[in-house]
Amino acid sequence: MVPGETFVAIDIGSSKIKSVIGTFTEDKKLRVMGVGVAESRGIRKGNILDMEEFKNNLDWALGDAEKMVGEQVSHIFIGLSWIHIDILRNTGIIAIPGIEVTEDDVNRALDISQNGLDMTNRTVLKVIPESFSLDFESGIKNPIGMNGKKLEVRSHIFSIGTNTINNIKKWIYDVWVEILDIYPNILWSGEAILSRRQKELGVVCLDIGASTTNVSVYEEGSLIYAGIIPLGGEHVTSDLALGLRISIDTAEKLKLEYGDLGFLKNDSDEEIDLSKFSSIDTVNISRKFMTEIMKARYQEIFHYVNLELKKVGRDWMLPEWAALTGWASKIRWILDLARESLRLPASIWVPEEIDSMSGTTVSDPTYSAVIWVLLLSQKYWTHKRPFKLNISLHGWVESVKNFFHKILP
Ligand SMILES: Nc1ncnc2c1ncn2[C@@H]1O[C@H](COP(=O)(O)OP(=O)(O)OP(=O)(O)O)[C@@H](O)[C@H]1O
Ligand SMILES: [Mg+2]
Repeated sequence: MVPGETFVAIDIGSSKIKSVIGTFTEDKKLRVMGVGVAESRGIRKGNILDMEEFKNNLDWALGDAEKMVGEQVSHIFIGLSWIHIDILRNTGIIAIPGIEVTEDDVNRALDISQNGLDMTNRTVLKVIPESFSLDFESGIKNPIGMNGKKLEVRSHIFSIGTNTINNIKKWIYDVWVEILDIYPNILWSGEAILSRRQKELGVVCLDIGASTTNVSVYEEGSLIYAGIIPLGGEHVTSDLALGLRISIDTAEKLKLEYGDLGFLKNDSDEEIDLSKFSSIDTVNISRKFMTEIMKARYQEIFHYVNLELKKVGRDWMLPEWAALTGWASKIRWILDLARESLRLPASIWVPEEIDSMSGTTVSDPTYSAVIWVLLLSQKYWTHKRPFKLNISLHGWVESVKNFFHKILP
């Protein structure tokens, strides 16, 4: 890493596209220089429905951040949390040709761990090792430099539909920026910010977005499980719309202003006059009823989180805690419900200790994913990389040409 070098991250969510431009100081602290958020209208449930709309939204999110920095962006890192991301676990075994395990051996083992899986029409985004075994010793976190003859890796393979990823790449080249790398957002926590001790003790990280809830589980220092639940804030909104017989727009505004999972604790009810949000939905609704609807959906999300934990035998028994993030985790009293439903201590996790020059505070769950994409980029892009990354520089020359094309008349 060259101190002062600029990094750009984009989180393509199903409700919002967020961009952050940042740099890293000599002591490796992130300094945020520009931030942009745009609606993500061209995307529905992980499908791009309207290419032009998607490109406009992306341009908008980038443009806002660029204005703060006063520079045009030419290459970016991307984070995705789409339901189309598949996560498979597999093992790979190789013979070690030399005396010690090298970085090449580790990469070879990770490559081999993809064998035997049906990857037709799928592109691998990342292969993350869970643990290694060297000869008869198991549970090794990093075998590089150790002596042995046979290396086995247990890995998590994150893949996405080849058509989907090719389309994303094409549309992003169309707005004249080059993609340096793509990260499944689900990796944010463990790879970017959890301390070794936190990962040792065990933690479940939840990113509750608009159409997905990402679940990742760490224990004994490694990712032991990752899963994507196709439920999020937009389901809460559509429940309100259906239950209260109001439009989606009114339901969303109502949720953002009055959403409060703790309201049922009050004895009295409150009437909310919807005419302040809409000229069509002008009825009064009960705040208690509204809370019941929202609480039921959040309870369902936590129920599915428990089912995910059950798949690895960790329901109600992770020792440390649950870390929540994502914009939909901003609903009031969510932590009480999380503690009750997951039977774990819970806290909201926001990016910390970030020096912001942009005037926008990024210490907010809204920006967690995009900030962590930036931290991942710094981690993978700058250090000698211990594990394989699928980095494509294809199209770079074209993008430089396009960049000049964009700024010249
Ligand atoms: N204060 C709030 N209370 C409750 N929900 C909120 C609040 N603010 C935003 N939301 C909800 O958060 C969701 C958007 O979250 P986020 O921006 O993290 O999603 P995304 O990254 O675009 O989606 P995904 O990760 O699922 O692709 C929307 O459904 C929105 O209604
Ligand atoms: Mg998201």
